[in-house]
Amino acid sequence: MRIYKVGGAVRDRLLGKPVTDIDWVVVGATTEEMLAKGFRPVGADFPVFLHPKSGEEYALARTERKSGRGYGGFTFHASPEVTLEEDLIRRDLTINAMAEDDQQNLTDPYHGQRDLEARLLRHVSPAFAEDPLRVLRVARFAARYAALGFTVAPETLELMRQLSESGELEALTPERSWKEISRALMEDQPQVFIEVLRACGALKVLMPEVDALFGVPQPPAHHPEIDTGAHTLSVLQQAALHKQPLTVRWACLLHDLGKGLTPKEEWPRHIAHEFKGLKLIKAVNERFKVPRDCQELAMLVGEYHTHGHRALELKPSTLLELLQSFDVYRRPQRFEEFIAACEMDARGREGLEQRSYPQADYLRGAATAARSIAVQPLLEKGFKGPELGEAIKRERLKALKAYKENA
Ligand code: CTP
Repeated sequence: MRIYKVGGAVRDRLLGKPVTDIDWVVVGATTEEMLAKGFRPVGADFPVFLHPKSGEEYALARTERKSGRGYGGFTFHASPEVTLEEDLIRRDLTINAMAEDDQQNLTDPYHGQRDLEARLLRHVSPAFAEDPLRVLRVARFAARYAALGFTVAPETLELMRQLSESGELEALTPERSWKEISRALMEDQPQVFIEVLRACGALKVLMPEVDALFGVPQPPAHHPEIDTGAHTLSVLQQAALHKQPLTVRWACLLHDLGKGLTPKEEWPRHIAHEFKGLKLIKAVNERFKVPRDCQELAMLVGEYHTHGHRALELKPSTLLELLQSFDVYRRPQRFEEFIAACEMDARGREGLEQRSYPQADYLRGAATAARSIAVQPLLEKGFKGPELGEAIKRERLKALKAYKENA
C-alpha cells in the first residue's frame, strides 16, 4: 500500500500558505487491509477512513462515475488496481489534483504546478461536471486566492456556464450550498465569489434576487457608483476589510434586495425598498436553510438600514421603536452587528470608503440610554403586568429625549 498527501494540503504548501487539514489517498489497498490496521470507516459504502490516532481522512484511490442527476447519483469504484493518476483525474481543479509522498516527491500529471504559477483555476477533465457543487467551489477558490492574482480559466468558466444552464445546480442540497456560500463569504474577497457566480450564470440560478440588482440604478448623490449590484459587492468588500462576522456579511449581501423590485419608471429612487425586500430576503434564507442568527440579522438589516443612516434625525419615539425591534436589552450583540452592517453599507460606495459614520456611536449611546432604565423603582411604585411594560417604555422614551437633546 502506498500513501500520498493530496488536495488542499499539497496546494497550500506549494503556495506557501498554512496547511490546516490534510487529506490522504491510499493506493493498492483494500478495505479489509485498512480495517486491519485500525482505520475507522467513515460511512458504510464510502471508501474513506479515519486514522486511528490523527483522525485525518484516508481515502482509497477511486474512480467516480455519475449515474444520475443530483448528488445521490454517484457510483464509486475503489479497488487496489485504481492508480494514483486515475484518482487524481476525477478531481475538480488541477491545483487540487497533485499528490505528494512522504519524501515530498510530487505527482502532478495534470500540471497543477504550472497552473499555480500561472495563477489559473482550471478544471482537470470533463469529470468536473460530475459534481455541480464545484461551480461554487471554484468561485470560492477565486475569492480566496484573488489577492494572489488567480483567475478562472476561460474554458473552466465555460464549463461552469454549461453546468449552470443545465439545471444541475438546482439539485444541490441547501446544506452543501450553504457550506460553500458561508465559507466563501468569510474569505478576504467575498465579492469575487459573487462576481464569478454571476459571470458563469450561476448567480441567476442560486440567488436570482441578488443577480437582479445588477443594472438597477440608484441616485448618484448617495451612490456615486450608481449600480445597485456594484454597490452590493462594495458593501461585501468593506465587510471583509473590516473583518466582520458571517452574520454581518450575509446581511450586507441581502440588504438591498428590494431595489430589484422597483418599477423602472421609479428609477433611480427606491421608495420603501427596505420593506419590499423582506419577502425576498426570507426566500433566500429559506432556500439555503441559513442558520437562524444570519437569517434574523439579514431581515432586521433589510428592514432598518435606512433608519441606521438617519439615526441622528430620528424622533425619540422612532429611535425607541428601533431599539425595541432589536430587543436591544437582551440582545446587545445583535444591535452591534446591525450598526456594523449599516456602516459597511455607508462605506460601500464609490469614493466614500473612508467616510466617518457618526451614526454608529449615536446609536450605541441611544441603546445605553434606553438600557439605563431600571425596573425595580417602577415595581416599587406598584406597576404590574402591561402597565409595567408601558411605564418602562415611557421612562425609556424620556431617557431618549434627554439623550437626543444633549447629543
Ligand atoms: N474535491 C473535488 N471535488 C469536490 C470536493 C473535493 O475534486 N467537490 C477534491 C479536491 O482534490 C480537493 C480534495 O478533494 O482538493 C479535498 O477537498 P476539500 O477538503 O473539500 O478541499 P481542499 O482542496 O482541501 O480545500 P480547503 O482548503 O477549502 O479545505
